Amino acid sequence: MPRYLTRLAAAAGLLLSTGVGAWAVEISISCSALGKEYEVCKEGVDAWAQKTGNTVKIVSTPNSATERLALYQQLLAAGAGDIDVFQIDVVWTGILGEHFQDLTPKTQGVLEQHLPAMVDISRVDSKIVAMPWFADAGLLYYRQDLLEKYNRKVPQTWAELTETARIIQEGERKAGNNDFWGYVWQGRAYEGLTTNALEWIASNNGGTIVNATGEVTIENPNAAEALKTAAGWVGTITPEGVLNYTEEESRGVFQAGNAAFMRNWPYAWALAQGDDSTIKGKVGVAPLPKGGADGRHAGTLGGQLLAVSKYSKNAEAATDLVMYLTNRDEQKRRAVKGSFNPTILTLYEDADVTKASPFIGNLRDVFANAVTRPSGVTGDNYNKVSTEFFNAVHQVLSKRSEPEQALQRLDRDLKRIKRNGW
Ligand code: GLC
Repeated sequence: MPRYLTRLAAAAGLLLSTGVGAWAVEISISCSALGKEYEVCKEGVDAWAQKTGNTVKIVSTPNSATERLALYQQLLAAGAGDIDVFQIDVVWTGILGEHFQDLTPKTQGVLEQHLPAMVDISRVDSKIVAMPWFADAGLLYYRQDLLEKYNRKVPQTWAELTETARIIQEGERKAGNNDFWGYVWQGRAYEGLTTNALEWIASNNGGTIVNATGEVTIENPNAAEALKTAAGWVGTITPEGVLNYTEEESRGVFQAGNAAFMRNWPYAWALAQGDDSTIKGKVGVAPLPKGGADGRHAGTLGGQLLAVSKYSKNAEAATDLVMYLTNRDEQKRRAVKGSFNPTILTLYEDADVTKASPFIGNLRDVFANAVTRPSGVTGDNYNKVSTEFFNAVHQVLSKRSEPEQALQRLDRDLKRIKRNGW
């Protein structure tokens, strides 16, 4: 064989063995960037790029889930192929599902490994339109050191939380920290407020806005009572600024050492325990409080999925990236590094995962009691339902409306949406 051919054959062999081929493509993926999320996503996609010889571009997205949805709706409605892989919220499959590839054939033998609730959420009309990536549930973060200092227990009911938060706040302010608050959470008028308010209401036996058969159930005294309690926190144990907080603003206050309690998702754990955190080693995690003695612990089920756009020009490579990022090894790495809660069940018993997030074993109960938002039953109307709900709640929190009136109006508005079809 002439020398140049031998060289060519050797080069081709090398390319094949490293997986780099002439078919290498560029895939773009939208990752959210809460806390460490961008960094952890980048490490995952870089590893896939290295393995396959493809390149990946990350498009970062707004922190507010509501703004992110609006961006995706715009891109997808235009049939834009700019983003191949979308990180989507568990409540968006009904809204966006028609724009995604059917992944069902690729998921045979894989789905059984995942939390059933997350698999249910990934399906639209029996098609898998996205792969489960990580599961979220609302959690109560508390300052263990301060509970000890003030000789208080982890609160089991919202009334106990209110009292303990007030005691610690008064004590810390007397001791000189005027910026100290009892309880921080997410109160901006966006999807995050829907998740918080659903927890207050469901934990107080006030239902889930719309029930499993599609009836609007929100106008009830237990729901009104729950909203009244929450409105009472604003300006007392919670800063007024909470009315504009998303996850990251509340984490900012808590992680700076300026709050006794915080409601947030699991991702906040890895950051609170980070080397640069002022509260490292001082934090505990528990289920959110119950509405009262006969209420229940109710964390909202959240989480994120990965979907492949129908308009992708490289759907095969994009699907391969999705399957890689959602596989066991990558979910484990993300759980250890960023406390992103796996959707693969066996990881809840994995020693490295439980070492990194010691509370993760208890999360099984939190998930068993988790409340789901009515996204399945309201389908592509979910965003309208949620928007009416968070706006009504925001009015109550900002004292522009009494809970009863707000819920009465909300009931009327939701029934109007329902009449147009769900
Ligand atoms: C988290 C959850 C998601 C929820 C959002 C609200 O990203 O994973 O399900 O809708 O927070 O802010």
